[in-house]
Amino acid sequence: MKALVFENIHTLPDFKEIVVSPKENEVEVNITAAALNHRDIWITKGLYPGLVPGTIMGADGMGWYGGKRVVINPGIEWGNNERYQSKKFRVLGVPDHGTFAEKICLPESYIFEAPDHLTDEEVAALPVAGVTAYRALFTRACLMPGEHVLVTGLGGGVALIAALMAKAYGAKVFFTTGSNEKLQKGLQLGFDGGVNYKDEKSIEKLAEQCGHIDVIIDSTAGDGLSQLMKLCTFGSRIVLYGGNLGKINGINPQPLFWKQMEIMGSSMGSPTDFKDMLGFVDKHKLRPVVDSVFPMEAYGKAFSRMEEGSQMGKIVLTIQQ
Ligand SMILES: NC(=O)c1ccc[n+]([C@@H]2O[C@H](COP(=O)([O-])OP(=O)(O)OC[C@H]3O[C@@H](n4cnc5c(N)ncnc54)[C@H](OP(=O)(O)O)[C@@H]3O)[C@@H](O)[C@H]2O)c1
Repeated sequence: MKALVFENIHTLPDFKEIVVSPKENEVEVNITAAALNHRDIWITKGLYPGLVPGTIMGADGMGWYGGKRVVINPGIEWGNNERYQSKKFRVLGVPDHGTFAEKICLPESYIFEAPDHLTDEEVAALPVAGVTAYRALFTRACLMPGEHVLVTGLGGGVALIAALMAKAYGAKVFFTTGSNEKLQKGLQLGFDGGVNYKDEKSIEKLAEQCGHIDVIIDSTAGDGLSQLMKLCTFGSRIVLYGGNLGKINGINPQPLFWKQMEIMGSSMGSPTDFKDMLGFVDKHKLRPVVDSVFPMEAYGKAFSRMEEGSQMGKIVLTIQQ
Protein backbone atom coordinates (compact mmCIF):
# COMPACT_ATOMS: atom_id res chain seq x y z
CA MET A 1 0.00 0.00 0.00
CA LYS A 2 0.99 3.66 -0.38
CA ALA A 3 2.09 5.51 2.77
CA LEU A 4 4.12 8.46 4.06
CA VAL A 5 7.17 6.87 5.62
CA PHE A 6 9.63 8.62 7.95
CA GLU A 7 13.18 7.84 6.75
CA ASN A 8 15.49 10.77 7.53
CA ILE A 9 15.41 13.96 9.55
CA HIS A 10 15.50 17.42 7.88
CA THR A 11 13.43 16.19 4.97
CA LEU A 12 9.81 15.28 4.28
CA PRO A 13 8.71 11.65 4.65
CA ASP A 14 8.88 9.42 1.55
CA PHE A 15 5.63 8.67 -0.27
CA LYS A 16 6.15 5.02 -1.13
CA GLU A 17 4.92 1.43 -1.18
CA ILE A 18 5.19 -0.43 2.12
CA VAL A 19 3.85 -3.80 3.23
CA VAL A 20 2.22 -3.95 6.67
CA SER A 21 0.33 -6.99 7.98
CA PRO A 22 -1.75 -7.32 11.15
CA LYS A 23 -0.17 -9.08 14.13
CA GLU A 24 -2.17 -11.75 16.00
CA ASN A 25 -4.07 -9.25 18.20
CA GLU A 26 -4.61 -6.64 15.48
CA VAL A 27 -7.31 -5.76 12.95
CA GLU A 28 -7.10 -3.65 9.78
CA VAL A 29 -8.74 -0.25 9.37
CA ASN A 30 -8.97 1.24 5.86
CA ILE A 31 -8.01 4.88 6.32
CA THR A 32 -9.88 7.52 4.29
CA ALA A 33 -8.70 10.70 6.07
CA ALA A 34 -5.80 11.61 8.34
CA ALA A 35 -4.70 14.89 9.90
CA LEU A 36 -1.41 16.60 10.65
CA ASN A 37 -0.24 17.62 14.10
CA HIS A 38 2.67 19.85 14.99
CA ARG A 39 4.29 16.66 16.20
CA ASP A 40 4.72 15.61 12.55
CA ILE A 41 6.85 18.71 11.98
CA TRP A 42 8.92 18.02 15.11
CA ILE A 43 9.49 14.45 13.82
CA THR A 44 10.74 15.56 10.39
CA LYS A 45 13.07 18.03 12.13
CA GLY A 46 14.47 15.32 14.40
CA LEU A 47 13.06 17.10 17.46
CA TYR A 48 10.95 14.20 18.75
CA PRO A 49 12.12 11.26 20.87
CA GLY A 50 12.06 7.64 19.72
CA LEU A 51 12.39 8.20 15.96
CA VAL A 52 12.49 4.96 13.98
CA PRO A 53 13.29 5.20 10.24
CA GLY A 54 10.95 3.11 8.10
CA THR A 55 7.81 3.90 10.13
CA ILE A 56 4.60 5.32 8.72
CA MET A 57 3.87 8.78 10.14
CA GLY A 58 0.53 10.17 11.33
CA ALA A 59 -1.37 10.10 14.62
CA ASP A 60 -4.84 11.21 13.50
CA GLY A 61 -7.00 9.03 11.33
CA MET A 62 -10.48 7.88 10.48
CA GLY A 63 -11.51 5.00 8.29
CA TRP A 64 -13.71 1.96 7.90
CA TYR A 65 -13.79 -1.17 10.01
CA GLY A 66 -16.54 -3.81 10.13
CA GLY A 67 -18.70 -1.77 7.75
CA LYS A 68 -18.63 1.25 10.11
CA ARG A 69 -16.95 4.66 10.05
CA VAL A 70 -14.42 4.63 12.84
CA VAL A 71 -11.96 6.95 14.57
CA ILE A 72 -8.68 5.81 16.09
CA ASN A 73 -7.48 6.58 19.60
CA PRO A 74 -3.85 7.63 19.00
CA GLY A 75 -2.75 7.18 22.63
CA ILE A 76 -1.06 3.78 22.79
CA GLU A 77 -0.64 1.88 26.10
CA TRP A 78 -1.76 4.64 28.45
CA GLY A 79 -2.08 2.11 31.28
CA ASN A 80 -4.58 1.94 34.16
CA ASN A 81 -3.79 5.15 36.00
CA GLU A 82 -6.09 8.05 35.06
CA ARG A 83 -3.67 10.55 36.61
CA TYR A 84 -0.80 9.92 34.21
CA GLN A 85 0.33 7.59 31.45
CA SER A 86 2.50 4.49 31.77
CA LYS A 87 6.17 4.47 30.77
CA LYS A 88 5.15 2.50 27.66
CA PHE A 89 2.81 5.26 26.48
CA ARG A 90 3.37 6.61 22.97
CA VAL A 91 1.48 8.49 20.30
CA LEU A 92 0.57 6.68 17.10
CA GLY A 93 2.86 7.29 14.11
CA VAL A 94 6.58 6.86 14.87
CA PRO A 95 7.73 4.68 16.57
CA ASP A 96 4.57 2.65 15.70
CA HIS A 97 3.14 2.72 12.17
CA GLY A 98 0.64 5.57 11.91
CA THR A 99 -2.29 6.83 9.89
CA PHE A 100 -0.70 8.40 6.78
CA ALA A 101 -1.42 5.24 4.80
CA GLU A 102 -4.17 3.32 3.06
CA LYS A 103 -4.60 1.12 6.13
CA ILE A 104 -3.45 0.70 9.69
CA CYS A 105 -3.22 -2.46 11.82
CA LEU A 106 -3.89 -2.13 15.53
CA PRO A 107 -5.82 -3.77 18.39
CA GLU A 108 -9.59 -3.32 18.24
CA SER A 109 -9.56 -1.52 21.60
CA TYR A 110 -8.16 1.60 19.85
CA ILE A 111 -11.09 1.79 17.43
CA PHE A 112 -14.24 3.83 18.22
CA GLU A 113 -17.36 4.56 16.22
CA ALA A 114 -17.08 7.98 14.55
CA PRO A 115 -19.64 10.67 15.52
CA ASP A 116 -22.39 10.62 12.86
CA HIS A 117 -22.70 14.38 12.43
CA LEU A 118 -19.10 14.83 11.26
CA THR A 119 -17.63 14.53 7.76
CA ASP A 120 -14.67 12.17 7.27
CA GLU A 121 -12.30 15.17 7.31
CA GLU A 122 -13.80 16.47 10.56
CA VAL A 123 -13.49 13.04 12.20
CA ALA A 124 -9.83 12.87 11.17
CA ALA A 125 -9.32 16.33 12.71
CA LEU A 126 -10.49 15.12 16.10
CA PRO A 127 -8.26 12.52 17.83
CA VAL A 128 -5.03 14.21 19.07
CA ALA A 129 -6.39 17.74 19.28
CA GLY A 130 -9.70 16.60 20.74
CA VAL A 131 -8.32 14.37 23.47
CA THR A 132 -5.56 16.86 24.40
CA ALA A 133 -8.04 19.72 24.62
CA TYR A 134 -10.64 17.64 26.49
CA ARG A 135 -8.20 16.43 29.14
CA ALA A 136 -6.68 19.90 29.59
CA LEU A 137 -10.07 21.57 30.05
CA PHE A 138 -12.09 19.00 31.93
CA THR A 139 -9.90 16.29 33.49
CA ARG A 140 -7.12 18.70 34.52
CA ALA A 141 -8.62 22.20 34.86
CA CYS A 142 -12.09 20.93 35.92
CA LEU A 143 -13.69 23.78 33.96
CA MET A 144 -17.06 25.00 35.15
CA PRO A 145 -19.77 26.70 33.05
CA GLY A 146 -19.57 30.49 33.27
CA GLU A 147 -15.82 30.56 33.93
CA HIS A 148 -13.52 32.74 31.84
CA VAL A 149 -11.14 30.67 29.71
CA LEU A 150 -8.14 32.04 27.82
CA VAL A 151 -6.86 29.89 24.95
CA THR A 152 -3.54 31.06 23.54
CA GLY A 153 -2.60 30.69 19.86
CA LEU A 154 -6.14 30.09 18.59
CA GLY A 155 -4.96 29.09 15.10
CA GLY A 156 -3.53 25.80 16.39
CA GLY A 157 -5.33 22.49 16.07
CA VAL A 158 -5.53 21.84 19.83
CA ALA A 159 -6.22 25.48 20.70
CA LEU A 160 -9.18 25.86 18.37
CA ILE A 161 -10.97 22.74 19.49
CA ALA A 162 -10.27 23.63 23.14
CA ALA A 163 -11.91 27.01 22.58
CA LEU A 164 -14.92 25.39 20.87
CA MET A 165 -15.31 22.83 23.67
CA ALA A 166 -15.10 25.49 26.38
CA LYS A 167 -17.71 27.63 24.59
CA ALA A 168 -20.02 24.64 24.10
CA TYR A 169 -19.74 23.95 27.84
CA GLY A 170 -20.96 27.45 28.69
CA ALA A 171 -17.66 29.15 29.49
CA LYS A 172 -16.75 32.64 28.31
CA VAL A 173 -13.87 32.17 25.88
CA PHE A 174 -11.08 34.63 25.10
CA PHE A 175 -8.09 33.99 22.86
CA THR A 176 -4.78 35.25 21.57
CA THR A 177 -3.49 34.73 18.06
CA GLY A 178 -0.64 35.95 15.88
CA SER A 179 -2.54 37.47 12.96
CA ASN A 180 -5.35 39.95 12.52
CA GLU A 181 -6.98 37.64 9.99
CA LYS A 182 -7.16 34.82 12.58
CA LEU A 183 -8.37 37.36 15.15
CA GLN A 184 -11.32 38.23 12.90
CA LYS A 185 -12.03 34.56 12.18
CA GLY A 186 -12.00 33.78 15.91
CA LEU A 187 -14.48 36.56 16.64
CA GLN A 188 -16.68 35.32 13.79
CA LEU A 189 -16.71 31.89 15.42
CA GLY A 190 -18.49 33.52 18.35
CA PHE A 191 -15.77 33.66 21.01
CA ASP A 192 -16.14 36.40 23.61
CA GLY A 193 -12.97 38.33 22.88
CA GLY A 194 -9.50 38.07 21.44
CA VAL A 195 -6.24 39.92 20.85
CA ASN A 196 -3.22 39.67 18.59
CA TYR A 197 -0.29 38.58 20.78
CA LYS A 198 2.04 40.68 18.59
CA ASP A 199 0.18 43.84 19.64
CA GLU A 200 2.20 45.64 22.38
CA LYS A 201 -1.02 46.49 24.21
CA SER A 202 -2.46 42.96 23.98
CA ILE A 203 -2.49 42.30 27.75
CA GLU A 204 -4.25 45.61 28.53
CA LYS A 205 -6.77 44.97 25.74
CA LEU A 206 -7.42 41.46 26.99
CA ALA A 207 -7.89 42.73 30.55
CA GLU A 208 -10.52 45.19 29.33
CA GLN A 209 -12.37 42.43 27.48
CA CYS A 210 -12.34 39.67 30.07
CA GLY A 211 -11.92 41.34 33.47
CA HIS A 212 -10.30 38.22 34.82
CA ILE A 213 -9.29 34.71 33.74
CA ASP A 214 -10.13 31.46 35.55
CA VAL A 215 -8.44 28.98 33.20
CA ILE A 216 -5.55 29.36 30.73
CA ILE A 217 -4.97 26.66 28.11
CA ASP A 218 -1.51 27.21 26.63
CA SER A 219 1.11 25.49 24.47
CA THR A 220 3.67 28.26 24.24
CA ALA A 221 4.82 29.10 27.79
CA GLY A 222 7.76 31.59 27.58
CA ASP A 223 7.80 34.98 29.25
CA GLY A 224 4.44 35.87 27.68
CA LEU A 225 2.67 33.40 29.93
CA SER A 226 3.79 35.11 33.15
CA GLN A 227 2.28 38.34 31.75
CA LEU A 228 -1.01 36.60 30.94
CA MET A 229 -1.07 35.06 34.42
CA LYS A 230 -1.47 38.57 35.87
CA LEU A 231 -5.07 38.36 34.61
CA CYS A 232 -5.74 35.23 36.67
CA THR A 233 -8.11 35.41 39.60
CA PHE A 234 -8.53 33.37 42.80
CA GLY A 235 -8.60 29.62 42.19
CA SER A 236 -7.39 29.88 38.61
CA ARG A 237 -5.79 26.98 36.75
CA ILE A 238 -3.09 27.30 34.10
CA VAL A 239 -2.74 24.20 31.93
CA LEU A 240 0.28 23.72 29.67
CA TYR A 241 0.23 21.12 26.90
CA GLY A 242 3.33 22.44 25.11
CA GLY A 243 6.18 24.86 25.67
CA ASN A 244 7.26 26.22 22.29
CA LEU A 245 8.63 29.52 23.62
CA GLY A 246 10.63 27.92 26.44
CA LYS A 247 11.00 28.79 30.12
CA ILE A 248 8.39 30.91 31.88
CA ASN A 249 10.47 33.67 33.44
CA GLY A 250 8.99 36.29 35.69
CA ILE A 251 6.34 34.33 37.57
CA ASN A 252 5.48 36.26 40.72
CA PRO A 253 5.01 33.72 43.55
CA GLN A 254 2.96 36.05 45.78
CA PRO A 255 -0.32 36.03 43.78
CA LEU A 256 0.32 32.37 42.94
CA PHE A 257 -0.01 31.24 46.56
CA TRP A 258 -2.37 33.93 47.81
CA LYS A 259 -4.87 33.36 45.02
CA GLN A 260 -4.61 29.56 45.41
CA MET A 261 -3.60 29.28 41.75
CA GLU A 262 -2.46 26.06 40.08
CA ILE A 263 -0.04 25.56 37.18
CA MET A 264 -0.26 22.10 35.68
CA GLY A 265 0.88 20.05 32.71
CA SER A 266 -1.34 17.90 30.51
CA SER A 267 -0.56 15.50 27.70
CA MET A 268 -2.88 13.63 25.34
CA GLY A 269 -5.43 11.62 27.38
CA SER A 270 -6.40 8.24 28.77
CA PRO A 271 -8.80 5.87 26.96
CA THR A 272 -11.48 7.26 29.32
CA ASP A 273 -10.66 10.82 28.24
CA PHE A 274 -10.84 9.73 24.60
CA LYS A 275 -14.22 8.05 25.04
CA ASP A 276 -15.56 11.01 27.05
CA MET A 277 -14.25 13.42 24.41
CA LEU A 278 -16.20 11.58 21.70
CA GLY A 279 -19.30 11.65 23.92
CA PHE A 280 -18.87 15.42 24.46
CA VAL A 281 -18.44 16.05 20.72
CA ASP A 282 -21.55 14.00 20.00
CA LYS A 283 -23.65 15.60 22.77
CA HIS A 284 -22.80 19.17 21.72
CA LYS A 285 -22.71 18.34 18.00
CA LEU A 286 -19.30 20.03 17.99
CA ARG A 287 -17.45 20.33 14.68
CA PRO A 288 -13.67 20.69 14.65
CA VAL A 289 -12.46 23.41 12.28
CA VAL A 290 -10.76 21.99 9.19
CA ASP A 291 -8.35 24.54 7.76
CA SER A 292 -7.52 22.77 4.52
CA VAL A 293 -7.71 19.39 2.80
CA PHE A 294 -5.04 17.87 0.54
CA PRO A 295 -4.86 14.47 -1.15
CA MET A 296 -2.14 12.37 0.53
CA GLU A 297 0.06 12.67 -2.60
CA ALA A 298 0.17 16.48 -2.05
CA TYR A 299 1.50 16.08 1.50
CA GLY A 300 4.36 18.52 0.82
CA LYS A 301 1.85 21.38 0.62
CA ALA A 302 0.19 20.21 3.83
CA PHE A 303 3.50 20.08 5.74
CA SER A 304 4.51 23.53 4.40
CA ARG A 305 1.22 25.07 5.50
CA MET A 306 1.71 23.77 9.03
CA GLU A 307 5.35 24.82 9.18
CA GLU A 308 4.46 28.35 8.03
CA GLY A 309 1.82 28.50 10.79
CA SER A 310 -0.72 29.91 8.36
CA GLN A 311 -3.45 27.43 9.30
CA MET A 312 -6.56 28.08 11.35
CA GLY A 313 -7.54 24.64 12.63
CA LYS A 314 -6.60 21.22 11.28
CA ILE A 315 -4.82 20.30 8.06
CA VAL A 316 -6.27 17.08 6.65
CA LEU A 317 -5.01 14.52 4.12
CA THR A 318 -7.52 12.43 2.18
CA ILE A 319 -6.58 8.89 1.23
CA GLN A 320 -7.96 7.09 -1.80
CA GLN A 321 -9.00 3.49 -1.15
N1 LIG B 1 1.17 17.49 25.24
C1 LIG B 1 0.43 16.96 24.29
O1 LIG B 1 -0.18 15.90 24.43
C2 LIG B 1 0.29 17.70 23.00
C3 LIG B 1 -0.70 17.33 22.08
C4 LIG B 1 -0.83 18.05 20.92
C5 LIG B 1 0.05 19.12 20.67
N2 LIG B 1 1.03 19.41 21.57
C6 LIG B 1 1.96 20.52 21.34
O2 LIG B 1 1.20 21.72 21.31
C7 LIG B 1 1.74 22.62 20.38
C8 LIG B 1 0.65 22.98 19.36
O3 LIG B 1 0.30 21.81 18.65
P1 LIG B 1 -0.73 21.84 17.43
O4 LIG B 1 -0.68 20.51 16.80
O5 LIG B 1 -2.02 22.42 17.89
O6 LIG B 1 0.05 22.86 16.48
P2 LIG B 1 -0.34 23.83 15.33
O7 LIG B 1 -1.71 23.50 14.82
O8 LIG B 1 0.80 23.88 14.39
O9 LIG B 1 -0.39 25.22 16.10
C9 LIG B 1 0.76 25.97 16.47
C10 LIG B 1 0.33 26.90 17.55
O10 LIG B 1 1.36 27.74 18.03
C11 LIG B 1 0.78 29.04 18.25
N3 LIG B 1 1.84 30.04 18.36
C12 LIG B 1 2.92 30.19 17.56
N4 LIG B 1 3.66 31.23 18.03
C13 LIG B 1 3.03 31.72 19.14
C14 LIG B 1 3.29 32.76 20.09
N5 LIG B 1 4.37 33.56 19.96
N6 LIG B 1 2.43 32.94 21.11
C15 LIG B 1 1.31 32.18 21.25
N7 LIG B 1 1.01 31.16 20.38
C16 LIG B 1 1.87 30.95 19.34
C17 LIG B 1 -0.13 29.21 17.07
O11 LIG B 1 -1.05 30.24 17.28
P3 LIG B 1 -1.62 31.21 16.11
O12 LIG B 1 -1.63 30.43 14.83
O13 LIG B 1 -2.98 31.57 16.57
O14 LIG B 1 -0.73 32.41 16.06
C18 LIG B 1 -0.78 27.84 17.13
O15 LIG B 1 -1.70 27.73 18.19
C19 LIG B 1 2.95 21.92 19.76
O16 LIG B 1 4.09 22.28 20.48
C20 LIG B 1 2.66 20.45 19.99
O17 LIG B 1 3.82 19.67 20.01
C21 LIG B 1 1.14 18.73 22.73
